[in-house]
Formats: sequence, C-alpha cells, structure tokens
Amino acid sequence: MDTAVLTPLTAGQGGPLQGCVRVPGDKSISHRALILGALTVGETTVAGLLEGEDVLHTAAAMRALGAHLERGGDGLWRIHGVGVAGFAQPSVPLDFGNSGTGVRLAIGAVAGSPVTATFDGDASLRKRPMRRVLDPLERMGARVLDCAEGGRLPLTLHGARDPIPIVYEPPVASAQLKSAVLLAGLAAPGETTVIEAEATRDHTERLLKHFGAKVVSRPYGEHGRRITLQGQPELEPANVVVPADPSSAAFPLVAALIVPGSDVTLEAVMTNPLRTGLYTTLREMGAKIETLATRDDGGEEVADLRVTASPLKGVEVPAARAPSMIDEYPILAVAAAFAEGTTRMRGLQELRVKESDRLAATADMLRANGVEVAIEGDDMIVQGKPSVAGGAEVTTHMDHRIAMAALVMGLASEQPVRVDDSAFIATSFPGFVELMRSLGADLA
Ligand code: S3P
Repeated sequence: MDTAVLTPLTAGQGGPLQGCVRVPGDKSISHRALILGALTVGETTVAGLLEGEDVLHTAAAMRALGAHLERGGDGLWRIHGVGVAGFAQPSVPLDFGNSGTGVRLAIGAVAGSPVTATFDGDASLRKRPMRRVLDPLERMGARVLDCAEGGRLPLTLHGARDPIPIVYEPPVASAQLKSAVLLAGLAAPGETTVIEAEATRDHTERLLKHFGAKVVSRPYGEHGRRITLQGQPELEPANVVVPADPSSAAFPLVAALIVPGSDVTLEAVMTNPLRTGLYTTLREMGAKIETLATRDDGGEEVADLRVTASPLKGVEVPAARAPSMIDEYPILAVAAAFAEGTTRMRGLQELRVKESDRLAATADMLRANGVEVAIEGDDMIVQGKPSVAGGAEVTTHMDHRIAMAALVMGLASEQPVRVDDSAFIATSFPGFVELMRSLGADLA
C-alpha cells in the first residue's frame, strides 16, 4: 500500500441510518481457506472470499509457494494446491502487507515444508511480535535463518522435513499462534496437540475437518480447549463458503445503535460463539439487536440481525470474554462513550500488539473527542454520556479498526470527526465507505 499519501476522511451527523446490507466475507476464514486450499491437491473453491488487501497478500504468497489460485468472473476462487509439505521454494520475499494473520499462519504452513522463505510486511507489521510463533515452530524443527531484532520481520525461515509433533500450551490466547502450530503439524508424523487455557476462534479446526483432516477438540479447564491433529493427512479438496465477517459488521451495527432513529439489518453475519463477545456485551448494555433468521452457511451458523438505535448503559466486560471479541474493543469503546455510566473492559493486554497499540490508540481517539477514558493496568475504563463532543482529528497509526471506529463515532458526535488516513480500511473492509453511505452516513 502507498503510505506516502494520506487519505483523510470526515464523518458527521446526518439523518438516521436505514437499510439492509451484507458486509464482506470473514477475514479469518478467508486466509485459512486460501492456505488450506494451497496445501490440498485437487480443486478447492472458495465463495464469498474477502477480497481485502490482507487476504490478497496471502493469495499472492500462496502463488509464490507454488499453488495455483485464480478468481473467476463469477467471483469464485479456484485453488489447485501442492499437497501437505509440498510448497516450492519461493523466488521472492513473501510480502504480507499489514496482515498479522496472513503472515503468522503462512509461517506455520511453511514450517512444515523443507523450503526457505523470507517473510515481510509494512511498517506496522514489522513492529509486531513474531517470536511467539517462532518458538513452537523451532521446537518442531523449523530454523530461523535471519530476522530483525526480537524475532520481528523481515525474517527468513527454513521449514522442517518431517516436523516433530509436539504438545504445545500457548502462553497467550491467540488463534494465530494455535493455527500456526496446527498448520505445521499437518506435515508431522503423529499427533500435534495445542492446549489453550482460553478458547480462541476455532476456524482452523473447523476448516481442517472440512478438508478431511482428523482433529479432535475437547473442553479443557474452565474456558479452554485441547485440540489434537493427526498429522500427514491426505487433504481432500473442499468447497468453502465464507460467511459475512462479524468483526466488520460491528461497525455499521454500533453506528445504528448510536445514531438516533436508525434501523439497520445486517445480513448473514457469522454467529460463531468464539467471535460474538461484542454482541453479548452490547445486549447487556441495552442494545436492541434482534435475530431475524438463522441458518448454516458452509459449516458456520449465520444470522440476519436487525439493529435499532438504543439508549445504552455502561457495563463490566470480563477478561474471559476478550478472546471472543479481541478485535472489537475500539468499536465497543465508541459504544461505551455514548452509554450512560462507566464501562470497564478488563484484560486487554493483547490489544497492545495489534495493527497498532490499540489500547493507546483507542484511548487517544476518545480523549481527543472529549470522552473521559482511563487505562488502569490492562483495563480500559470509559465514562459514557449520551452526547460526545467530537471535533478532533484521529491518528489511525496504519490501523483499519481505529479508522472505522473513529468514523462511526463522528456519525453521532456533536462535531464531525476526521481520520488522518482512511486507506487502511481496505485491508479488511473494502467498500466500507460506500456501504455506510448507502445506509445514509455522511462520510466525505
Ligand atoms: C485472528 C486472530 C486474532 C485477531 C485477528 C485474526 C485469526 O489475533 O486479532 O484479527 O484469524 O486467527 P491473535 O491470534 O493475535 O489474537
């Protein structure tokens, strides 16, 4: 992405938001579908792929590793993969742009093929921790040949021939970390086990099963899971349908709650319980979110949600809920700013290592616009009021979710809110501006 030229954008009050929209495909499932398709011999198809920049970087990386991927005129992606452990040595560095998910999952997948690959990304991705994935992958036999300080990008990895199957307990709740180990474990002769103290999104496990791998997931402790993958499966080509991304739906949904008089329906939003902590929290705050219809869409449950503007009240959000809404705190903080009373969000340490330091960026965004916020340890405390001043420019720090959250705030604040750069929204939510405008939002 060209970061030299900034693309500012301003959101201001207009009329109520109204209409029925479908947000793009889920980012997590999109990355995984491409990677698993690339590891499968035969034709995999993917419908509803998120064609945002993050996922397109993963597609390009899979091509560089020897898989064939093409998008048909019908919007269907067709993938002819190389088989487990079959990646070819890429002749160019693999560029993952802004995407932590893309790079961490690909590092795991490459760790199971005996090839050498260099991984890189933009200035934001180069700051993010990769040691957490390298540690277990080195135990499995992959070798880091070169990396920037602290295990950061750019890094060069040599994958293992016959990786060693391990039992791994991640030190942080991270679906990317779990997935990297499982993807490397595909090539291992035996069982790879990941024991999570806190269950994280399970799309890798679900998709592995969909591609014919043997995966067993059992409850572990109060909130955890023990996941065991049988290595060296013959993956079977699959048809994947990507449901609408609940993390993207969160933005028009909160906008509809805080812009007076709004009535918006969001179609076919994935309701996987490991992704819907925000929805639970908003309902506790008094949000009117009605489930109109539910159905199964390619192995994930989806629902049409009707959202109407609602008076909100502050709540306590427990730390145990964080993995199921880890990407939603910036937009929850905006909802909390418009709620009556105090919202305390606990256990947000992982927000410090997202596309930006999201804990600091969220607090700065709110403070600049007249909202009282405190950070105490790993908790964020927002003092809400039904009216928010607005009027400031928000620094987005190359972070799509800070940009979208700030713009949603501007739709309901007294003065417009401007973001310094809206370009990164395209990493996860291409068409965000057009979709919001179609509901009546004033974005210019
Ligand atoms: C993701 C996992 C989460 C999340 C990210 C997508 C995934 O990251 O923040 O947007 O698809 O596995 P962590 O694994 O770092 O928690």
